[in-house]
Amino acid sequence: MMDIVLYIHLLAATVWIGGSVFLFALGVFLRDKEAQKRVYFHVGPIYGYVESVWLTILIFSGLWMFFHLGLDTIFKEGSPQTILHILTIKLWLVAIITVATVIHMYIAFKTNGVERTPLQKLLSRGSSMAIFLLNLLILWYAMQLRNFL
Ligand code: HEM
Repeated sequence: MMDIVLYIHLLAATVWIGGSVFLFALGVFLRDKEAQKRVYFHVGPIYGYVESVWLTILIFSGLWMFFHLGLDTIFKEGSPQTILHILTIKLWLVAIITVATVIHMYIAFKTNGVERTPLQKLLSRGSSMAIFLLNLLILWYAMQLRNFL
């Protein structure tokens, strides 16, 4: 069972991170404003639904492994320190990325197809940049964690 859940976790991570890298690339390389508006108008909502499903799968499969690998006891006992340290950082990053995703999706769905206020623009761009960068960090800590399990 552990193998299956890890497989699902990894599949979810590839879809979730792959999607965020692709949309980030679209933002950078699709310079034509009109084309960008049209692409985001149609692709945005589908992307939003797909990504939130995979993020949910990531969190649930991660939690399942967390309890089945006995990582909760590491938190209760406070050792081994290395695993505790890596896992704490990863979980904080996941918490922040989840908040950034909620902010990003809230603005995206609220303003899809309409002009954004400067504050909405800032929050939307800031959160997408945060999601992109945090994913790269989470991947690093996920890999480190694997080294100690
Ligand atoms: C954005 C969210 C997440 C991403 C991108 C992510 C990514 C990954 C990746 C890529 C691995 C495999 C690392 C490797 O094999 O080298 C992994 C493993 C793992 N993840 Fe996550 N993860 C996320 C959220 C979570 C959450 C919320 C938890 C726990 C509450 C969690 C718990 C674990 C555990 C326990 C493993 C190790 C499983 C093992 O090696 O047997 N993950 N994660």
